[in-house]
Amino acid sequence: MWSIIILIFLSIVSYLLTDELIPKIKNLFINAGLFGIDLCKVSKEKIPEAIGVVSGCVFLVTIFMFIPIVFGNDLMDRGNFPHNEFAELLAALLSICCMLLLGFADDVLNLKWRYKLLLPTVASLPLLVVYYVNFNSTTFIVPIPLRHFFGNSVNIGFLYYIYMGMLAVFCTNAINILAGINGLEVGQSAIIAMSIIIFDIIELRGDQFKAHSFSLHIMIPYLATTLALLKHNWYPSKVFVGDTFCYVSGMTFAVVAILSHFSKTVLLFFLPQIINFVYSVPQLFHIIPCPRHRLPKYSAETDLLYPSKTVILKKDMNMLHKYILQVLTLFRLVDKQEDDGCIVINNMTLINLFLIKLGPMSEVRLTSSLLVFQILCTCIAFIVRYPMASYFY
Ligand code: UD1
Ligand code: MG
Repeated sequence: MWSIIILIFLSIVSYLLTDELIPKIKNLFINAGLFGIDLCKVSKEKIPEAIGVVSGCVFLVTIFMFIPIVFGNDLMDRGNFPHNEFAELLAALLSICCMLLLGFADDVLNLKWRYKLLLPTVASLPLLVVYYVNFNSTTFIVPIPLRHFFGNSVNIGFLYYIYMGMLAVFCTNAINILAGINGLEVGQSAIIAMSIIIFDIIELRGDQFKAHSFSLHIMIPYLATTLALLKHNWYPSKVFVGDTFCYVSGMTFAVVAILSHFSKTVLLFFLPQIINFVYSVPQLFHIIPCPRHRLPKYSAETDLLYPSKTVILKKDMNMLHKYILQVLTLFRLVDKQEDDGCIVINNMTLINLFLIKLGPMSEVRLTSSLLVFQILCTCIAFIVRYPMASYFY
């Protein structure tokens, strides 16, 4: 209990430190060539990019300082020191730290998409090794309706490690592709972090109390530094967070999901990101042309955002294109116009879908609507996790 109070105090300090550091340090980023142009504004001023490295470093340092506090009593009694719990925390920090470095490399070097998939896989290896040594539980509890076919539980062995590696790849990239308007990457991450913290607090009284206090030790400082970053990234953004922030966030969520054994619940909190990923699949796999930026189109005359478009040439169309367009049209998920020799459709992101369904709107209203949807999905996740789970488990 005392350790959590100290952690909250350290996290408040980390919030204040991040908030203070960002404006002081941002010119260094511009001077180093690390800046971007806000594509949804008239002004073409340089906005520092990759500022997620500042919040990420403060977050890591806060946990480093917390280590002697959480293991304080055990340090006195070295004979009974909990080496496995210590290894878990160190592996978590190593994976997040690795992702911070790789994310920063991505922001500086603008890596290709294939490397974006490879980086989190590599960074999750320390985590998987510790999981293997400490738990090595690769068993899934089968939902009641399926028990007739598979029995009470299924051991999927090595596939479980592949699942966990893929979870890290998904969490990091899913946040990075639901992005492009001020405050969205950070806002969604803050809501997911709050959802995990609420879930941990509810579960602290249960028999998994150690796993949930481990999760709290990571999520509380993460949330504090993220909120400080949000203050500067909210509309109109004075800083961009870069892929560094998306990678650090995704890996932080993957770390708690894996080591605290609630990956299915974390995936429930990722519902908007899952919808955005599934909707994006035809463009991510380049079946439908995918431009460098899919963020909405800004009109200076109206100061509103409109869905951005991609063009499919009719001569390049095959059966797969036709099938995808038919399904999307059937479910009214696409805005399609036929032109001479080409078909123009919206870029397939949840952000553009909101603009199609709700009409053009200002950037700040669009971010707020998407964040309200994220909160709504958290509520659905809790309904599925609690009242409904008893029907399945
Ligand atoms: C991902 C998306 C891309 C989206 C971009 C926006 C996919 C496959 N990729 O690419 O469609 O356009 O994120 O982040 O879905 N920017 C703004 N306003 C913001 C945030 C970013 O204008 O609020 C622009 C800035 O020019 C900034 C750039 O986006 O420099 C950052 O893009 P980057 O993170 O490098 O794009 P990706 O992650 O590769
Ligand atoms: Mg990005």
